[in-house]
Amino acid sequence: MKKIGIIILVVLVVIQFIRPKKIQSVGVDKDDIVFTTGVPKETWQNIQRACYDCHSNKPNYPWYFNVQPIGWWLNNHMEEGREHLNFSEFNSYKLGRKRHKLEEVTESVTEHWMPLESYLWIHKNARLSDAELKAIADWANMERSMLPPPDKEELEWLEKKKNKS
Ligand code: HEC
Repeated sequence: MKKIGIIILVVLVVIQFIRPKKIQSVGVDKDDIVFTTGVPKETWQNIQRACYDCHSNKPNYPWYFNVQPIGWWLNNHMEEGREHLNFSEFNSYKLGRKRHKLEEVTESVTEHWMPLESYLWIHKNARLSDAELKAIADWANMERSMLPPPDKEELEWLEKKKNKS
């Protein structure tokens, strides 16, 4: 029994040295959503507060990110979130991707599946009011309506999708 305890202890100590890599961009990213047609300042600030930890190149890392395996688990969420949607790189997305992501942003805050509930337990200040969430949804809708009509690439993609279903 004592031996197992020691083994577990050694493993716990060793994994502390295997830290997930942190990212942090400097200044405002050139493709950030702030450079879209018109995200209101307050809405942008709320998106930063509630979404940027998992959807930008400027996450805040809590101290327990340095405690493994908690950090691994957090980093998984953060990387997955960024892969799906990165507000810091939004303006580099292709037209069709922008349109689709904006639609999902509206959906995610209207149906309350974002921010993730597990995140809100700890990050009380990321809990937005219904009015604040609605402002995000309204902005995403407005932004989407301002996009130019589908380009050749998007039309081809839509066509392919149609043929598949
Ligand atoms: C704790 C991390 C975290 C926070 C905070 C967070 N998200 Fe997410 N988000 C994720 C993860 C992980 C995924 C991918 C898996 C999934 O869909 O559940 C995701 C997926 C999404 C998607 C779907 C993208 C796609 O095309 O599949 C949207 C839209 C989204 N988030 C919007 C938001 C918005 C808006 C906020 C802030 C109000 C937010 N998220 C806050 C982690 C987070």
